[in-house]
Amino acid sequence: MSGHLVILTGAGVSAESGLGTFRDTDGIWSKFDWRELATPEAFAAKPHEVHAFYNARRKNLVTARPNAAHQALAELEAAWIARGGEFLLVTQNVDNLHETAGSERLVHMHGELSRMRCTNCHATGEAPKELSSLDTCSACGSTGTLRPHIVWFGEMPLQMELIYSQLESCNLFVSIGTSGTVYPAAGFSQVARDAGARCIEINLEETDMSPVFHEHRLGKASEAVPAFVRETLAQS
Ligand code: OAD
Ligand code: ZN
Repeated sequence: MSGHLVILTGAGVSAESGLGTFRDTDGIWSKFDWRELATPEAFAAKPHEVHAFYNARRKNLVTARPNAAHQALAELEAAWIARGGEFLLVTQNVDNLHETAGSERLVHMHGELSRMRCTNCHATGEAPKELSSLDTCSACGSTGTLRPHIVWFGEMPLQMELIYSQLESCNLFVSIGTSGTVYPAAGFSQVARDAGARCIEINLEETDMSPVFHEHRLGKASEAVPAFVRETLAQS
């Protein structure tokens, strides 16, 4: 096999690992107001509340395990690269389930729950279980400057240059378990399509972005992704 594959994942890929999605009826943003928790302004106004929210989500990761979708994507990456292909997995998820499953060529465009960043010196590091405004940055010695290494609303996602260069040269783009409502990720399928890539969407249901894709596979990620991976590897 040769070819250049870019995969985008969203919360739907981790739903069956017990981590909530954002916009489904019982999703995280139906229980919490993102304006109060996921913006730089919210953090400046109420750091304690924002830390508590992300500390709780970080705690959920301790027991979460990758599901068959994460595992199949790690197997696909290994096989694709072994056959000489180019591969990048871009995830909007801030959990660590792709890497636990063995994915290596992975970009966390919305950051990672397991990491923190200093707003003073910009150093990043592994977050403790509980991050608080009383903590001191070990790099610069400032107190109260450590924040979750998460991209909040109004902030620029990470590694966009790499992602766009990959989208512009890929010939297969697969979007899995994302509602396609948050930009810039929601626009990736159009960029890949304009670059001539075949675009496949895997989701429980149709999304606002469905018309951009050539092929749709409706189903749970834990079933639809392994099936897609088996077929893709058998074809080549
Ligand atoms: P959403 O909650 O918006 O969408 C989840 C998608 O997954 C929906 O389209 C569901 O239909 C689908 N889904 C749910 N369960 C599934 C399953 N078992 N198998 C397959 N699909 C399933 O989540 P995202 O699109 O990831 O940003 O949201 C994008 C961003 O918005 C997140 O990264 C987060 C959020 O605000 C930040 O925190 C910065
Ligand atoms: Zn610092």
